[in-house]
Amino acid sequence: MNTEEIKALKGKRKISMLTAYDYQTAKILEAAEIEMILVGDSLGNVILGYEGTKQVTINDMVRHVEAVARGAPHTYIVGDMPIDTYNNFEDALKNSKKLINAGATAVKLEGNKAAIIKRLVDLGIPVEGHLGLLPQTAIDMKVKGKEQSEAERIYNDALELDAAGVFSIVLECIPLKLATRITENVKAVTIGIGAGPFCDGQVLVINDMLGMQRGSKPKHVKRYADLYGVISEAVHNYIHEVRDGSFPDDEHSFH
Ligand code: KIV
Repeated sequence: MNTEEIKALKGKRKISMLTAYDYQTAKILEAAEIEMILVGDSLGNVILGYEGTKQVTINDMVRHVEAVARGAPHTYIVGDMPIDTYNNFEDALKNSKKLINAGATAVKLEGNKAAIIKRLVDLGIPVEGHLGLLPQTAIDMKVKGKEQSEAERIYNDALELDAAGVFSIVLECIPLKLATRITENVKAVTIGIGAGPFCDGQVLVINDMLGMQRGSKPKHVKRYADLYGVISEAVHNYIHEVRDGSFPDDEHSFH
């Protein structure tokens, strides 16, 4: 799908998006015919083992966008711009070109960067906005826009991003009423994560929805699998069979 085709889904069919960071996962997502893949800077938390997204660099993103693009060459790929790579237009242009050249179809920027975004869009770079909880700058991971003044600010930011030409806006951890109001009043497709069911589409971090971790999870995350359990059981079985000599058996040996 191209950007116009993604936009044309608004009001017609819900859009599914998941994050991916590697070749094999991207292949699975493409085979499942997901509409969009986000190479998110959640790469920092879930793949690189950092506390958050702040340490992720543009070179990290380029490497992982390239891997995902090799696995999903026909899928719409959004590359996340890491913190401090789009503080001014020149940086934003230079760094978004790096992600596009690596195989991203579009780039995503956090916050109301309408002036910068308008110039990128005018140059033909598709941009996805990101409002609500902004992990690159957040001081806590609480729901945003519960208070009227903050809700109004987020709503107005969404209108400004829309006017700047974003094709899509990620709405992260905001009340569903606010997400619905934004969705109904922008041309861009809204992609919710913790923003209720009335957005134009949904995104989740793939490691979260696959249950790669045990223990507590954010309210908006639904675990569709227990990969922690599956992998853990397989590894325990392997260790056991190596120790007792039943692996490798004749079937897995060369003669
Ligand atoms: O980096 C990421 O995975 C994201 C999603 C949480 C939307 O930005």
